[in-house]
Amino acid sequence: MADNMITHSGYTDEDAEIELSLRPKRIDDYIGQSAVKDNLSIFIEAAKMRCEPLDHVLFYGPPGLGKTTLAGIIANEMDVNLRITSGPAIGRAGDLAAILTNLEENDVLFIDEIHRLNRSVEEVLYSAMEDYAIDIVIGKGPSARSLRLDIPHFTLIGATTRAGSLSAPLRDRFGVISKFELYTDDELVQIIKRSAGILGVEADEDAYYAMAARSRGTPRVANRVLKRVRDFSQVRGDGYIDMKTAELAFEALRIDSLGLEDLDREILRLIIERFHGGPVGIDTIAAALGEERITIEDVYEPYLIQKGLLNRTQKGRTVSDLAYSHLGIERITED
Ligand code: ADE
Repeated sequence: MADNMITHSGYTDEDAEIELSLRPKRIDDYIGQSAVKDNLSIFIEAAKMRCEPLDHVLFYGPPGLGKTTLAGIIANEMDVNLRITSGPAIGRAGDLAAILTNLEENDVLFIDEIHRLNRSVEEVLYSAMEDYAIDIVIGKGPSARSLRLDIPHFTLIGATTRAGSLSAPLRDRFGVISKFELYTDDELVQIIKRSAGILGVEADEDAYYAMAARSRGTPRVANRVLKRVRDFSQVRGDGYIDMKTAELAFEALRIDSLGLEDLDREILRLIIERFHGGPVGIDTIAAALGEERITIEDVYEPYLIQKGLLNRTQKGRTVSDLAYSHLGIERITED
């Protein structure tokens, strides 16, 4: 993905810094995802009453929706440490063993992109999750021995963009499986207002809504949009965000009124211009755009689908009439 795109939901260094300062610490400050949040509140309270760790939790859904943030809140509410790592960062079984043996009782271990763990690491995780023990092989060849090592009771919070890409044995070991949904514009307005308060900037009510509408249902994008609009308002104005400066920023950033960026529009345009509006297979779209299929499916499509611009059908992707009118292309139907 190009670096200049600000509405994609991939993670950058700047996001790490923004998110640290803007992340809510308590569950009451976490906006939206009420289905996930309400259930978790009960499970947290029950686990605390029993002085036990929370059951293992799997979060799935598009990137940037606040999975890590909620994991941090859970650790906070349980009053335990949070250890953050990711599937690709745990290369070997020994790396995971080192992490697990260093946990304290009832700690939360967060593994992002958990579907990318390799098999040998995943197998260590099974016994860790089920029995709070790991089997370590000492030595090589005929003299090799297996040693069972107890580890502290802990809660694993796994995050993935899709639950279906997890192996069944791993998925079955999670007691709670929660799906994250894209945020509504009203929820994003609340998130942007909260972030603006922390950053010490103010905006007109319609500018808040305009920023929310351009954040593709994603808090990570909303916070990024807010920061860029703030830059424009500082340099071109007096620091206050009104609709005029906000629109100036959107134009410079090439985000349109529906929050689409260049690649979103390219996807729609490709289906319209080369495939008469579809249906067309996802692999064909990916190849034509030179993007990974999984990136298109997990990062771009959920928002296009939510906005009613794109449909996934048995025969492939199709675009809606709205996609035609949004791009200003006339739909020619064959009768
Ligand atoms: N930052 C990321 N996700 C958030 C949420 N749901 N509420 C408040 N701030 C957030």
